[in-house]
Amino acid sequence: MTEVGKKPLKITETVLRDAHQSLIATRMTTEQMLPILDKMDQVGFHAIECWGGATFDACLRFLKEDPWERLRKLRDGLKNTKLQMLFRGQNILGYRPYADDVVEYFVQKSVANGIDIIRIFDCFNDLRNLKTAVSACSREKGHAQVALSYTLGDAYTLDYWTKMARQIEEMGADSICIKDMAGLLVPREADALVRAIKEVSSLPLELHTHYTSGVASMTYLKAVEAGCDIIDTAMSPFALGTSQPATEVMVEAFSGTEFDTGLDQNALAKIADYFRPMRDQALESGLLNPKVLGVDIKTLLYQVPGGMLSNLISQLKEQGKEDKYEEVLAEVPRVRKDLGEPPLVTPSSQIVGTQAVFNVLMGERYKIATKETKDVLLGKYGQTVKPFDPEVVEKVLGADKNKAITCRPADLLLPELAKLEAEMKQWKQQDEDVLSYALFPQVAMEFFRYREAQQRKVDPSLADTQNGAYPV
Ligand code: CO
Repeated sequence: MTEVGKKPLKITETVLRDAHQSLIATRMTTEQMLPILDKMDQVGFHAIECWGGATFDACLRFLKEDPWERLRKLRDGLKNTKLQMLFRGQNILGYRPYADDVVEYFVQKSVANGIDIIRIFDCFNDLRNLKTAVSACSREKGHAQVALSYTLGDAYTLDYWTKMARQIEEMGADSICIKDMAGLLVPREADALVRAIKEVSSLPLELHTHYTSGVASMTYLKAVEAGCDIIDTAMSPFALGTSQPATEVMVEAFSGTEFDTGLDQNALAKIADYFRPMRDQALESGLLNPKVLGVDIKTLLYQVPGGMLSNLISQLKEQGKEDKYEEVLAEVPRVRKDLGEPPLVTPSSQIVGTQAVFNVLMGERYKIATKETKDVLLGKYGQTVKPFDPEVVEKVLGADKNKAITCRPADLLLPELAKLEAEMKQWKQQDEDVLSYALFPQVAMEFFRYREAQQRKVDPSLADTQNGAYPV
């Protein structure tokens, strides 16, 4: 064990959330996590990111697990370490804006079930979309971290980011995160960005990036030297590629410096030993594609997050149009410009990606616009940093363009919790079930049926479907 430095760097470990989301399609099960929790709990991580993002969806949809039950088990196993989750602002963990009552209830239940730190971001960096979640988190005595969705473009100047940082502090957040979901932040820019934010805000600053473009660990080095307090890393078997830089490597890189984390490499090595066979197995089964482990420099060219690239490939595959990949990739930045140049992160990444696929496959741009594209142009996801392309607005919305809104979108949403409760009440076994249903109605219903069938010890396909017809 090395001595803790004068300004010790803090480490947020992501292996239980982002790392397996980025590398193995979020398929790590709770059973796979539990045996190592005790060792992880003793390391002294600043926090363990373990919930939110796609984990909730993947639990219900693919693993047939209750995500709330997972959270309670993680809390139980990690008594000394803060648990962190990722939260999509007004979209919670879903893909559309929800009414405030659902957002507040979700935050309340997340904290009640064990979350300490909620990292809240908005795909447009529209801070109005974070307000409700941030105040709810503070009310529940949680740590509200607000994340800047980092992206590139004319509008995204140091001035833009520092203005946001000031507003985040004014909003009552407890810390700031620079969330670089696509691995676009290069070392020299990280240095400038961290210094600029530190100058205007006294809040702790965390940096989250992905290794995709190959620069991430150098970016961390520069960011920490510039004053960044916390970095996100993943245990080496689930590090690099589209995931985060490796925990052990970053710990070593700062050891003996004023930023020495003081974390014990031997303790980390034992944890890595536990996860390594899981990685080997994932490589063998094909769940982990070696392609995502290399350096993908295209991410810097197209500025597209890794997860979005694999989505595009699978969408094209379904249509038998894989040959259009390059064309779609080139269309993505054009659609992004049309829609006000937002960062590409869930759900804007899906919205822009799907529209780009339609534009290319239909042979005419915006011949078909998705409902989500229309909603973006109607202002229902919030305000983008740049205006929408007027010609695209005209073509997609026509006369409906008069219905576009400029207020905080959730101000127009009626409370929806009571209605959701009524729709799913015969399936309810715990308060939290209504929230699973709110986010993924169809998938949650399937899960509830499965759960009940398991409890009755009957084949799920034979379960009674009379009482729980799928919502239309
Ligand atoms: Co990430």
